[in-house]
Amino acid sequence: MMNIAVLVSGGGTNLQAILESERRGENPNGKVTLVVASKPGVYALERAKNFGVKGEVVRRKDYATAEEFDAALLKVLHENNIDLVVLAGFLSVLGPSVIAAYPNRILNIHPSLIPSFCGPGFYGLRVHEAALARGVKVTGATVHFVNEVCDGGPILLQKAVEVQPGDTPEILQKRVMEQAEWKLLPKAIAMVCSGEV
Ligand code: GAR
Repeated sequence: MMNIAVLVSGGGTNLQAILESERRGENPNGKVTLVVASKPGVYALERAKNFGVKGEVVRRKDYATAEEFDAALLKVLHENNIDLVVLAGFLSVLGPSVIAAYPNRILNIHPSLIPSFCGPGFYGLRVHEAALARGVKVTGATVHFVNEVCDGGPILLQKAVEVQPGDTPEILQKRVMEQAEWKLLPKAIAMVCSGEV
């Protein structure tokens, strides 16, 4: 059984999808036992509470250096015996010590088809704004393992989503979440927990 920590910064709709999938019995080899938020008061913490999952806050600005932040995050992960870390809209950058502690055991979801519209500065709505500005007709989502290159780790799953005429960034974001992200991330987690990958 793998203990899973989901790291969040916002609304937590991907967290919700993971918890609902787990409740349906779709991940017999893992359990979300911890949610870590990058700031207090985010709605994702409310969702964790509703599922009886422990919530913690580790905030970058509470630490003088990136190294101290990484050490605090690692301490929380180790204290909770976490085996797998899932970034579900987590906006703080993980440093080398965290990445080295969980080799091939950190997953990230990104709301585009990597290598398009990814890397530093591409997060949340900005990704969809860039896709619309470029005029692509197909976008999607990617789940990948996290390594030291931003959005550059090995790709595990991708799903394409069509851009429709008249899309706004908000409408496109919602479609990518519904058609790709909320399916892909629970599936990827179950694949890692089962030892399939
Ligand atoms: C999701 O669309 C996720 O793919 C994106 O942030 C959103 C979080 O939504 N992540 C990134 O852009 C990472 N670069 P949520 O809090 O509702 O799950």
